[in-house]
Amino acid sequence: MADDAVSVTAVVEAVRENRLWQRHMDIAAIGATGRGGVNRQALTPEDGQARRLMLEWASELGFTASVDAIGNLFIRRAGAQPASDPVVAGSHLDSQPTGGNFDGVFGVLAALEVLEAANDAGVVTGRPLELVVWTNEEGARFQPATMGSAVYAGALQLETVLASSDSDGVTVEQALAGTLKAAPVPVRRDFRSPMAAYVEAHIEQGPVLESTGNTIGVVTGIQGLRWFQVEVGGEEAHAGTTPRSNRRDALAAAVAMVTKLQALMFDESDTVRFTVGRFEVAPNSPNTIPGRVVFTIDFRHPDQDVLTRLGDRVEPVCRAEAQDCTVKVVETMNAPPTEFDPDVRDLVRSAARRQAFRHMDMTSGATHDAKFMAGLCPSGMIFVPCESGVSHNEAENASAADLAAGARVLAEVAIRLANR
Ligand code: GLV
Ligand code: MN
Ligand code: MN
Repeated sequence: MADDAVSVTAVVEAVRENRLWQRHMDIAAIGATGRGGVNRQALTPEDGQARRLMLEWASELGFTASVDAIGNLFIRRAGAQPASDPVVAGSHLDSQPTGGNFDGVFGVLAALEVLEAANDAGVVTGRPLELVVWTNEEGARFQPATMGSAVYAGALQLETVLASSDSDGVTVEQALAGTLKAAPVPVRRDFRSPMAAYVEAHIEQGPVLESTGNTIGVVTGIQGLRWFQVEVGGEEAHAGTTPRSNRRDALAAAVAMVTKLQALMFDESDTVRFTVGRFEVAPNSPNTIPGRVVFTIDFRHPDQDVLTRLGDRVEPVCRAEAQDCTVKVVETMNAPPTEFDPDVRDLVRSAARRQAFRHMDMTSGATHDAKFMAGLCPSGMIFVPCESGVSHNEAENASAADLAAGARVLAEVAIRLANR
Protein backbone atom coordinates (compact mmCIF):
# COMPACT_ATOMS: atom_id res chain seq x y z
CA MET A 1 0.00 0.00 0.00
CA ALA A 2 1.36 3.38 -0.97
CA ASP A 3 1.61 6.27 1.46
CA ASP A 4 -1.89 7.69 2.08
CA ALA A 5 -1.11 11.23 0.87
CA VAL A 6 0.37 9.89 -2.38
CA SER A 7 -2.63 7.59 -2.96
CA VAL A 8 -5.13 10.34 -2.25
CA THR A 9 -3.49 12.76 -4.67
CA ALA A 10 -3.16 10.11 -7.37
CA VAL A 11 -6.82 9.05 -7.20
CA VAL A 12 -8.13 12.63 -6.97
CA GLU A 13 -6.08 13.56 -10.03
CA ALA A 14 -7.34 10.51 -11.93
CA VAL A 15 -10.99 11.64 -11.67
CA ARG A 16 -12.09 12.50 -15.21
CA GLU A 17 -14.72 15.22 -15.59
CA ASN A 18 -15.64 14.24 -19.17
CA ARG A 19 -16.03 10.55 -18.38
CA LEU A 20 -18.25 11.34 -15.41
CA TRP A 21 -20.39 13.69 -17.49
CA GLN A 22 -20.69 11.24 -20.39
CA ARG A 23 -21.89 8.52 -18.05
CA HIS A 24 -24.60 10.87 -16.75
CA MET A 25 -25.73 11.37 -20.34
CA ASP A 26 -25.67 7.60 -20.98
CA ILE A 27 -27.90 6.95 -17.95
CA ALA A 28 -30.11 9.94 -18.87
CA ALA A 29 -30.89 8.27 -22.20
CA ILE A 30 -32.61 5.44 -20.29
CA GLY A 31 -36.18 6.51 -19.61
CA ALA A 32 -35.68 9.88 -21.35
CA THR A 33 -39.00 11.72 -21.67
CA GLY A 34 -37.94 13.88 -24.60
CA ARG A 35 -38.38 17.01 -22.48
CA GLY A 36 -34.90 16.96 -20.95
CA GLY A 37 -35.65 14.66 -18.03
CA VAL A 38 -36.40 11.03 -17.26
CA ASN A 39 -39.15 8.76 -16.06
CA ARG A 40 -37.17 5.85 -14.62
CA GLN A 41 -39.29 4.91 -11.65
CA ALA A 42 -38.24 2.13 -9.33
CA LEU A 43 -38.26 -1.44 -10.63
CA THR A 44 -39.51 -0.53 -14.11
CA PRO A 45 -37.84 -1.96 -17.24
CA GLU A 46 -35.89 1.34 -17.44
CA ASP A 47 -34.55 0.86 -13.92
CA GLY A 48 -33.47 -2.64 -14.98
CA GLN A 49 -31.75 -1.24 -18.08
CA ALA A 50 -29.82 1.36 -16.05
CA ARG A 51 -28.68 -1.32 -13.60
CA ARG A 52 -27.60 -3.51 -16.52
CA LEU A 53 -25.46 -0.70 -17.88
CA MET A 54 -23.87 -0.29 -14.44
CA LEU A 55 -23.10 -4.02 -14.40
CA GLU A 56 -21.52 -3.82 -17.86
CA TRP A 57 -19.28 -0.92 -16.80
CA ALA A 58 -18.38 -2.76 -13.57
CA SER A 59 -17.45 -5.92 -15.38
CA GLU A 60 -15.30 -4.08 -17.97
CA LEU A 61 -13.40 -2.53 -15.06
CA GLY A 62 -12.87 -5.84 -13.28
CA PHE A 63 -15.22 -5.19 -10.36
CA THR A 64 -17.53 -7.78 -8.80
CA ALA A 65 -21.24 -7.45 -8.07
CA SER A 66 -23.69 -8.70 -5.48
CA VAL A 67 -27.36 -8.04 -4.79
CA ASP A 68 -29.53 -8.38 -1.70
CA ALA A 69 -33.11 -9.60 -1.41
CA ILE A 70 -34.65 -6.13 -1.95
CA GLY A 71 -32.49 -5.55 -5.03
CA ASN A 72 -29.84 -3.21 -3.59
CA LEU A 73 -26.91 -3.63 -5.97
CA PHE A 74 -23.30 -3.59 -4.73
CA ILE A 75 -20.21 -3.27 -6.94
CA ARG A 76 -16.88 -3.96 -5.30
CA ARG A 77 -13.29 -3.03 -6.07
CA ALA A 78 -11.11 -5.39 -4.05
CA GLY A 79 -8.76 -4.14 -1.36
CA ALA A 80 -5.51 -5.52 0.01
CA GLN A 81 -7.41 -6.86 3.05
CA PRO A 82 -10.29 -8.71 1.41
CA ALA A 83 -11.90 -9.70 4.72
CA SER A 84 -12.12 -6.14 6.04
CA ASP A 85 -15.37 -4.20 5.92
CA PRO A 86 -15.75 -2.08 2.77
CA VAL A 87 -16.01 1.68 2.47
CA VAL A 88 -19.27 2.21 0.58
CA ALA A 89 -20.47 5.12 -1.58
CA GLY A 90 -23.54 5.37 -3.75
CA SER A 91 -27.11 6.58 -4.13
CA HIS A 92 -29.98 5.63 -6.47
CA LEU A 93 -30.87 5.31 -10.16
CA ASP A 94 -34.67 5.46 -9.84
CA SER A 95 -36.36 8.77 -10.58
CA GLN A 96 -39.53 10.74 -10.02
CA PRO A 97 -42.17 10.38 -12.80
CA THR A 98 -40.90 13.68 -14.22
CA GLY A 99 -37.39 13.48 -12.80
CA GLY A 100 -34.09 15.07 -13.66
CA ASN A 101 -30.79 13.59 -14.82
CA PHE A 102 -28.76 14.07 -11.65
CA ASP A 103 -30.86 13.28 -8.54
CA GLY A 104 -29.38 9.99 -7.31
CA VAL A 105 -27.48 9.24 -10.51
CA PHE A 106 -24.67 11.57 -9.48
CA GLY A 107 -23.99 9.68 -6.23
CA VAL A 108 -23.84 6.37 -8.09
CA LEU A 109 -21.62 7.65 -10.90
CA ALA A 110 -19.35 9.63 -8.57
CA ALA A 111 -18.75 6.35 -6.72
CA LEU A 112 -18.01 4.53 -9.98
CA GLU A 113 -15.65 7.34 -10.95
CA VAL A 114 -13.77 6.91 -7.66
CA LEU A 115 -13.42 3.16 -8.21
CA GLU A 116 -12.24 3.67 -11.80
CA ALA A 117 -9.89 6.51 -10.81
CA ALA A 118 -8.32 4.18 -8.21
CA ASN A 119 -7.77 1.63 -11.02
CA ASP A 120 -6.25 4.27 -13.31
CA ALA A 121 -3.97 5.52 -10.54
CA GLY A 122 -2.91 1.98 -9.73
CA VAL A 123 -3.77 2.53 -6.08
CA VAL A 124 -4.48 -0.46 -3.85
CA THR A 125 -6.59 0.47 -0.84
CA GLY A 126 -6.58 -1.52 2.39
CA ARG A 127 -10.32 -1.98 2.57
CA PRO A 128 -12.46 -2.81 -0.46
CA LEU A 129 -14.23 0.14 -2.07
CA GLU A 130 -17.87 -0.42 -2.88
CA LEU A 131 -20.54 1.33 -4.88
CA VAL A 132 -24.20 0.79 -3.97
CA VAL A 133 -27.37 1.40 -5.99
CA TRP A 134 -30.24 1.51 -3.49
CA THR A 135 -33.64 0.23 -4.58
CA ASN A 136 -36.59 2.65 -4.72
CA GLU A 137 -35.16 5.73 -3.08
CA GLU A 138 -37.82 8.00 -4.56
CA GLY A 139 -40.96 6.32 -3.29
CA ALA A 140 -42.90 7.65 -6.29
CA ARG A 141 -44.16 4.30 -7.60
CA PHE A 142 -43.97 2.23 -4.41
CA GLN A 143 -44.19 3.69 -0.92
CA PRO A 144 -42.32 4.37 1.24
CA ALA A 145 -39.26 6.22 -0.09
CA THR A 146 -35.72 5.05 0.79
CA MET A 147 -37.15 1.54 0.77
CA GLY A 148 -34.00 -0.42 -0.09
CA SER A 149 -31.78 1.20 2.52
CA ALA A 150 -34.51 0.91 5.17
CA VAL A 151 -34.80 -2.83 4.59
CA TYR A 152 -31.01 -3.22 4.46
CA ALA A 153 -30.70 -1.46 7.82
CA GLY A 154 -33.55 -3.45 9.38
CA ALA A 155 -35.86 -0.45 9.79
CA LEU A 156 -38.49 -2.11 7.54
CA GLN A 157 -39.28 -5.78 7.12
CA LEU A 158 -38.64 -7.35 3.70
CA GLU A 159 -42.04 -9.12 3.68
CA THR A 160 -43.86 -5.84 4.35
CA VAL A 161 -42.28 -3.93 1.49
CA LEU A 162 -42.50 -6.84 -0.99
CA ALA A 163 -46.28 -6.58 -0.60
CA SER A 164 -46.37 -2.82 -1.29
CA SER A 165 -48.13 -2.21 -4.61
CA ASP A 166 -48.21 0.54 -7.22
CA SER A 167 -51.38 2.20 -8.53
CA ASP A 168 -51.86 -0.67 -11.02
CA GLY A 169 -51.73 -3.28 -8.26
CA VAL A 170 -48.25 -4.56 -9.21
CA THR A 171 -46.32 -5.51 -6.06
CA VAL A 172 -42.69 -4.79 -5.28
CA GLU A 173 -42.14 -8.55 -5.26
CA GLN A 174 -43.42 -8.89 -8.84
CA ALA A 175 -41.60 -5.82 -10.16
CA LEU A 176 -38.35 -6.76 -8.42
CA ALA A 177 -38.38 -10.20 -10.07
CA GLY A 178 -38.50 -8.45 -13.47
CA THR A 179 -35.66 -6.08 -12.57
CA LEU A 180 -33.42 -8.87 -11.32
CA LYS A 181 -34.08 -10.78 -14.53
CA ALA A 182 -33.14 -7.74 -16.63
CA ALA A 183 -29.96 -7.13 -14.60
CA PRO A 184 -29.00 -10.52 -13.19
CA VAL A 185 -26.46 -10.83 -10.38
CA PRO A 186 -25.74 -14.33 -9.10
CA VAL A 187 -23.97 -13.35 -5.86
CA ARG A 188 -26.19 -12.69 -2.82
CA ARG A 189 -25.51 -10.06 -0.21
CA ASP A 190 -26.87 -10.22 3.35
CA PHE A 191 -28.81 -7.35 4.88
CA ARG A 192 -26.82 -5.43 7.48
CA SER A 193 -23.52 -6.88 6.26
CA PRO A 194 -21.05 -4.53 7.91
CA MET A 195 -19.65 -1.40 6.28
CA ALA A 196 -16.64 0.53 7.58
CA ALA A 197 -18.26 3.79 6.46
CA TYR A 198 -20.86 5.14 4.02
CA VAL A 199 -20.54 8.37 2.01
CA GLU A 200 -23.17 9.63 -0.43
CA ALA A 201 -22.60 12.37 -2.99
CA HIS A 202 -25.72 14.18 -4.23
CA ILE A 203 -26.81 17.39 -5.90
CA GLU A 204 -28.08 19.80 -3.26
CA GLN A 205 -31.63 19.98 -4.73
CA GLY A 206 -31.93 23.47 -3.24
CA PRO A 207 -30.55 26.94 -4.01
CA VAL A 208 -28.09 27.54 -1.15
CA LEU A 209 -24.73 26.44 -2.61
CA GLU A 210 -25.30 28.26 -5.89
CA SER A 211 -26.53 31.46 -4.27
CA THR A 212 -23.63 31.57 -1.81
CA GLY A 213 -20.98 30.70 -4.40
CA ASN A 214 -19.98 27.43 -2.73
CA THR A 215 -18.98 24.29 -4.63
CA ILE A 216 -19.19 21.74 -1.82
CA GLY A 217 -21.80 21.28 0.90
CA VAL A 218 -20.54 19.45 3.98
CA VAL A 219 -23.80 17.80 4.99
CA THR A 220 -24.26 17.78 8.76
CA GLY A 221 -27.59 15.94 8.80
CA ILE A 222 -31.02 15.41 7.26
CA GLN A 223 -34.26 16.91 8.48
CA GLY A 224 -36.91 14.50 9.76
CA LEU A 225 -40.00 13.55 7.81
CA ARG A 226 -43.40 11.93 8.20
CA TRP A 227 -45.54 10.61 5.36
CA PHE A 228 -49.27 9.94 5.60
CA GLN A 229 -51.85 8.47 3.26
CA VAL A 230 -55.39 9.70 3.80
CA GLU A 231 -58.33 7.81 2.33
CA VAL A 232 -61.71 9.56 2.34
CA GLY A 233 -64.84 7.54 1.64
CA GLY A 234 -68.07 9.16 0.46
CA GLU A 235 -70.89 7.98 -1.77
CA GLU A 236 -71.10 8.18 -5.54
CA ALA A 237 -74.27 9.93 -6.65
CA HIS A 238 -75.72 11.89 -9.57
CA ALA A 239 -74.27 15.41 -9.82
CA GLY A 240 -77.48 16.86 -11.26
CA THR A 241 -80.08 15.39 -8.96
CA THR A 242 -78.54 15.00 -5.50
CA PRO A 243 -79.20 17.92 -3.11
CA ARG A 244 -76.33 19.12 -0.93
CA SER A 245 -78.05 17.77 2.17
CA ASN A 246 -78.01 14.26 0.70
CA ARG A 247 -74.42 14.27 -0.47
CA ARG A 248 -71.45 12.46 0.97
CA ASP A 249 -68.86 14.12 -1.23
CA ALA A 250 -65.39 12.67 -0.61
CA LEU A 251 -63.71 15.47 -2.55
CA ALA A 252 -65.44 18.25 -0.60
CA ALA A 253 -64.30 16.62 2.65
CA ALA A 254 -60.74 16.06 1.38
CA VAL A 255 -60.45 19.69 0.25
CA ALA A 256 -61.59 20.84 3.70
CA MET A 257 -58.95 18.61 5.31
CA VAL A 258 -56.16 19.93 3.10
CA THR A 259 -57.21 23.54 3.70
CA LYS A 260 -57.17 23.07 7.48
CA LEU A 261 -53.82 21.24 7.32
CA GLN A 262 -52.28 24.02 5.20
CA ALA A 263 -53.32 26.52 7.87
CA LEU A 264 -52.01 24.30 10.68
CA MET A 265 -48.63 23.92 8.97
CA PHE A 266 -48.16 27.60 8.13
CA ASP A 267 -45.14 29.02 9.95
CA GLU A 268 -43.71 32.51 9.73
CA SER A 269 -40.13 31.26 9.69
CA ASP A 270 -40.82 29.13 6.57
CA THR A 271 -39.13 26.07 8.08
CA VAL A 272 -42.04 23.62 7.89
CA ARG A 273 -42.23 21.67 4.63
CA PHE A 274 -45.76 20.45 3.92
CA THR A 275 -46.83 18.92 0.60
CA VAL A 276 -49.91 17.17 -0.71
CA GLY A 277 -48.32 15.70 -3.81
CA ARG A 278 -50.82 13.04 -4.82
CA PHE A 279 -54.55 13.51 -4.97
CA GLU A 280 -56.65 10.77 -6.55
CA VAL A 281 -60.37 11.20 -7.09
CA ALA A 282 -62.70 8.32 -7.96
CA PRO A 283 -64.52 7.76 -10.18
CA ASN A 284 -63.10 11.02 -11.61
CA SER A 285 -66.12 11.76 -13.74
CA PRO A 286 -67.53 15.28 -14.27
CA ASN A 287 -71.08 14.35 -13.33
CA THR A 288 -70.63 11.83 -10.51
CA ILE A 289 -70.14 13.02 -6.93
CA PRO A 290 -66.74 11.65 -5.88
CA GLY A 291 -67.07 8.50 -3.79
CA ARG A 292 -63.42 8.14 -2.86
CA VAL A 293 -60.35 10.35 -2.54
CA VAL A 294 -56.86 9.25 -1.60
CA PHE A 295 -54.22 11.86 -0.94
CA THR A 296 -50.68 11.86 0.45
CA ILE A 297 -48.94 14.16 2.92
CA ASP A 298 -45.19 14.78 2.99
CA PHE A 299 -44.30 16.74 6.13
CA ARG A 300 -40.71 17.62 7.10
CA HIS A 301 -38.93 19.61 9.78
CA PRO A 302 -35.44 19.61 11.32
CA ASP A 303 -36.82 19.64 14.89
CA GLN A 304 -38.19 16.39 16.32
CA ASP A 305 -40.53 18.22 18.72
CA VAL A 306 -42.21 20.05 15.83
CA LEU A 307 -42.44 16.84 13.81
CA THR A 308 -44.19 15.16 16.73
CA ARG A 309 -46.45 18.07 17.67
CA LEU A 310 -47.70 18.97 14.18
CA GLY A 311 -47.52 15.45 12.71
CA ASP A 312 -49.69 14.10 15.52
CA ARG A 313 -52.36 16.68 14.57
CA VAL A 314 -52.83 15.28 11.05
CA GLU A 315 -55.27 12.52 11.94
CA PRO A 316 -57.48 14.59 14.34
CA VAL A 317 -57.72 17.42 11.77
CA CYS A 318 -58.76 14.97 9.04
CA ARG A 319 -61.38 13.42 11.33
CA ALA A 320 -62.76 16.82 12.30
CA GLU A 321 -63.18 17.81 8.62
CA ALA A 322 -64.60 14.49 7.39
CA GLN A 323 -68.21 15.77 7.33
CA ASP A 324 -70.35 12.67 6.68
CA CYS A 325 -67.51 10.77 5.05
CA THR A 326 -65.29 8.05 6.44
CA VAL A 327 -61.59 8.73 6.81
CA LYS A 328 -58.60 6.45 7.25
CA VAL A 329 -55.18 7.95 7.98
CA VAL A 330 -52.12 5.72 7.68
CA GLU A 331 -48.64 6.94 8.53
CA THR A 332 -46.43 5.36 5.86
CA MET A 333 -43.08 6.75 6.98
CA ASN A 334 -41.70 8.36 10.13
CA ALA A 335 -38.01 9.25 10.08
CA PRO A 336 -36.44 11.36 12.82
CA PRO A 337 -33.84 14.01 11.97
CA THR A 338 -30.43 12.44 11.26
CA GLU A 339 -27.05 13.74 12.34
CA PHE A 340 -24.00 12.57 10.40
CA ASP A 341 -20.81 11.30 11.97
CA PRO A 342 -18.54 14.20 13.05
CA ASP A 343 -15.45 12.37 11.81
CA VAL A 344 -16.88 11.86 8.30
CA ARG A 345 -18.00 15.50 8.27
CA ASP A 346 -14.44 16.53 9.18
CA LEU A 347 -13.03 14.38 6.39
CA VAL A 348 -15.37 15.98 3.83
CA ARG A 349 -14.57 19.46 5.11
CA SER A 350 -10.82 18.95 5.08
CA ALA A 351 -10.89 17.34 1.61
CA ALA A 352 -12.82 20.35 0.27
CA ARG A 353 -10.35 22.70 1.97
CA ARG A 354 -7.25 20.82 0.77
CA GLN A 355 -8.60 20.79 -2.80
CA ALA A 356 -9.42 24.51 -2.54
CA PHE A 357 -13.16 24.20 -3.13
CA ARG A 358 -15.33 26.82 -1.44
CA HIS A 359 -17.50 24.90 1.00
CA MET A 360 -20.05 25.29 3.76
CA ASP A 361 -21.81 23.16 6.34
CA MET A 362 -25.50 22.55 5.66
CA THR A 363 -28.39 20.25 6.55
CA SER A 364 -30.27 18.38 3.87
CA GLY A 365 -33.89 19.28 3.17
CA ALA A 366 -34.29 16.22 0.93
CA THR A 367 -34.12 12.77 2.39
CA HIS A 368 -31.49 10.22 1.37
CA ASP A 369 -30.50 6.60 1.91
CA ALA A 370 -27.59 7.86 4.02
CA LYS A 371 -30.18 8.41 6.77
CA PHE A 372 -30.44 4.65 7.32
CA MET A 373 -26.73 3.99 6.90
CA ALA A 374 -26.06 6.52 9.68
CA GLY A 375 -27.49 4.00 12.12
CA LEU A 376 -25.18 1.25 10.87
CA CYS A 377 -21.78 2.87 10.39
CA PRO A 378 -20.05 6.29 10.33
CA SER A 379 -21.83 8.08 7.48
CA GLY A 380 -21.90 11.41 5.70
CA MET A 381 -22.85 13.22 2.52
CA ILE A 382 -21.29 15.61 0.01
CA PHE A 383 -23.48 18.12 -1.84
CA VAL A 384 -22.73 19.96 -5.08
CA PRO A 385 -24.80 22.83 -6.52
CA CYS A 386 -27.64 22.35 -8.99
CA GLU A 387 -28.88 25.07 -11.30
CA SER A 388 -31.28 27.49 -9.56
CA GLY A 389 -31.84 24.82 -6.91
CA VAL A 390 -34.31 23.06 -9.21
CA SER A 391 -34.87 19.33 -8.60
CA HIS A 392 -37.72 16.80 -8.93
CA ASN A 393 -38.18 18.53 -12.25
CA GLU A 394 -37.08 17.61 -15.77
CA ALA A 395 -35.17 20.89 -15.98
CA GLU A 396 -32.81 19.78 -13.16
CA ASN A 397 -29.22 20.62 -14.15
CA ALA A 398 -25.70 20.69 -12.75
CA SER A 399 -22.33 21.63 -14.22
CA ALA A 400 -19.78 19.02 -15.25
CA ALA A 401 -17.14 20.89 -13.23
CA ASP A 402 -19.20 20.84 -10.03
CA LEU A 403 -19.99 17.14 -10.44
CA ALA A 404 -16.27 16.43 -10.90
CA ALA A 405 -15.48 18.52 -7.81
CA GLY A 406 -17.91 16.41 -5.78
CA ALA A 407 -16.36 13.21 -7.15
CA ARG A 408 -12.86 14.45 -6.25
CA VAL A 409 -13.91 15.21 -2.67
CA LEU A 410 -15.59 11.80 -2.50
CA ALA A 411 -12.38 10.21 -3.82
CA GLU A 412 -10.28 11.79 -1.10
CA VAL A 413 -12.71 10.85 1.69
CA ALA A 414 -13.15 7.28 0.41
CA ILE A 415 -9.42 6.60 0.00
CA ARG A 416 -8.64 7.99 3.47
CA LEU A 417 -11.39 5.85 5.02
CA ALA A 418 -10.32 2.78 3.06
CA ASN A 419 -6.74 3.03 4.28
CA ARG A 420 -7.64 3.18 7.98
C1 GLV B 1 -36.16 12.30 -1.96
O1 GLV B 1 -36.31 12.31 -3.15
C2 GLV B 1 -36.95 13.09 -1.07
O2 GLV B 1 -38.18 13.03 -1.19
O3 GLV B 1 -36.39 13.85 -0.27
MN1 MN C 1 -32.02 11.54 -4.51
MN1 MN D 1 -35.40 12.52 -5.39
